[in-house]
Amino acid sequence: MDFAQQLKAAIDIVAIVGERVPLKRRGPYSYVGLCPFHQEKSGSFHVHQEKQFYKCFGCGASGDVIKFVMEYDHVTFLEAITSLSERYGIPMPKRTGQDDAEYALRNQILEMYEIAARLYEDTLRGPAGADARAYIAKRGVTEALAGEFRLGFSERGGGVLAKVLRKQDYPDAALESSGLVKRREDGSFYDAFRGRLMFPIANESGKVIAFGGRAMFEGDEPKYLNSPGTPVYVKSNVLYSLHRAKDAARKHDRVVLVEGYMDVVGAWSAGIAEAVAPCGTALTQQQASVLRRFAPVAVVNFDPDAAGANATERSIQLLLDAGLRVRVATLDGGLDPDEFVKANGAAAYRERLAVAQPYFHWLAGRARQKFDTRTSEGKVQALESLLPRVRQIRDRVERAALANELAAVLGVDHGLLLEQFRRAAAGRGDQRIETPVTQLPPAEKVLLELVIANTAVRNRVMSQIGEYPALLDGDAGEIWRALTEVGDFTWDQLEKKLTPVGATLLASLAFADHSDTEQDLLEQAEACLQTLQLGNRRSAEADLKRQIREAEQRGSIMEALELAEELNRLKRKN
Ligand code: UTP
Ligand code: MN
Repeated sequence: MDFAQQLKAAIDIVAIVGERVPLKRRGPYSYVGLCPFHQEKSGSFHVHQEKQFYKCFGCGASGDVIKFVMEYDHVTFLEAITSLSERYGIPMPKRTGQDDAEYALRNQILEMYEIAARLYEDTLRGPAGADARAYIAKRGVTEALAGEFRLGFSERGGGVLAKVLRKQDYPDAALESSGLVKRREDGSFYDAFRGRLMFPIANESGKVIAFGGRAMFEGDEPKYLNSPGTPVYVKSNVLYSLHRAKDAARKHDRVVLVEGYMDVVGAWSAGIAEAVAPCGTALTQQQASVLRRFAPVAVVNFDPDAAGANATERSIQLLLDAGLRVRVATLDGGLDPDEFVKANGAAAYRERLAVAQPYFHWLAGRARQKFDTRTSEGKVQALESLLPRVRQIRDRVERAALANELAAVLGVDHGLLLEQFRRAAAGRGDQRIETPVTQLPPAEKVLLELVIANTAVRNRVMSQIGEYPALLDGDAGEIWRALTEVGDFTWDQLEKKLTPVGATLLASLAFADHSDTEQDLLEQAEACLQTLQLGNRRSAEADLKRQIREAEQRGSIMEALELAEELNRLKRKN
């Protein structure tokens, strides 16, 4: 059993969920309340105490206690198990030898980054930082703002940090893998960042794990130099300033996504704390998922150039895929967020964000620019570029409203457009949960409920499941198969093996409480099996009759007689 399982076994999911969501008892093990993951007036959020899982039949949210804490508290898996284990006094497992080395290296790298961040900050404030101070002052960055973002300066000379780190006796291997210093042929080290304005990049808890260094001197390339990936810095997962943005994002239910470090600083100075940026890469799917943990809405506010527009288009897709609602803010005058704040003031910038348009409007505007929508060919092209995105609009009313607007913009018939929209939307695998329409045969439904509810029944039934091939081929076939693969009922393991429809069916069966004694349950299961057995026999009889008819038609009298004999034997057994 891994630690997470051990932890789950020790925790009552009803207690943890109940602290955050008022729950009412429904049956011996089942509780119900208003779903915290979507808006609703009547409770579709169920918690199963014995099976230790939750499921919302409204929005489909489901999982175990760890997942609940992750989603509700917006924390990572590690943070969730750490807080639960502290709370329940269950010690986290000790690390093994190999993990120890890895752990030590990570700690050393974190230490080195903190040392570097302090050195760069001091340098910016000291005599060597005069030019850099003048530069940021000119760009409107106050001392307080520089302090908040821990801006720094790396000296041009290029050996200061290497010397400081050397003194600390870090092993060469650790120095090298930090990316802060580089090794010369003769084995000596020199600083990786030289003569740059330094932006520390922190992880979610605010520890410095990388730098972006902006060139300040004529001819220095590239404009921004970024730390390489290290054991503590996985670029595709990290967003600049996320640790500062977290609380504001939750409070305002949105994140603002900008392109550059300076834009985050500028937005912060305008009172927008929930701004973050990818660091030196295009937005990734992982980063989009991270954002989803903090807010349901993302406002994309990239630079108003061609590169920014392309990046916006790609990001829309990734953010939608991560389940965010997406808006796009546009700034006039060709200014990026940082420049806009400086030119027009904080209030004007906040207003631009407040009126950010839903992504589809932005895409439609872009299609109009890309294609000549005065020609019918251009109209078709514009439409075709937009239809794939229509799939992501879940709401039918919203789709209809958009069809209206787009029809007006493109000058096409609105009914025709709506039909196109409907078809595009139909092509989308519906992500919303469907209550299973499946009508299981009553005996099978009850049997499945009993199998899920009771271990003894499960063992008895699963050992002879092979005699009931109809079950494996039926509507609940995937559940029967999953149950044969998983020894015990563990929601997270079973859910992994099922389609969304299957998982919902499983949950609805699990919430059918059977409170009788084990003996009663076994007897009920036996009765179900007999009914199913009868069904087996009936279909076997029907099968034989059909074969007899066929044999007669072919003129194979001998074969027909043998089959008839078999049919008689079968009937006598009844
Ligand atoms: P920008 O050039 O828009 O930077 O690049 P910026 O933040 O607005 O900076 P200023 O206002 O010119 O000083 C956007 C982001 O792209 C990455 C950096 O993360 C930067 O913040 N970038 C840019 C690089 O990684 N390398 C580069 O050479 C340029
Ligand atoms: Mn800029």
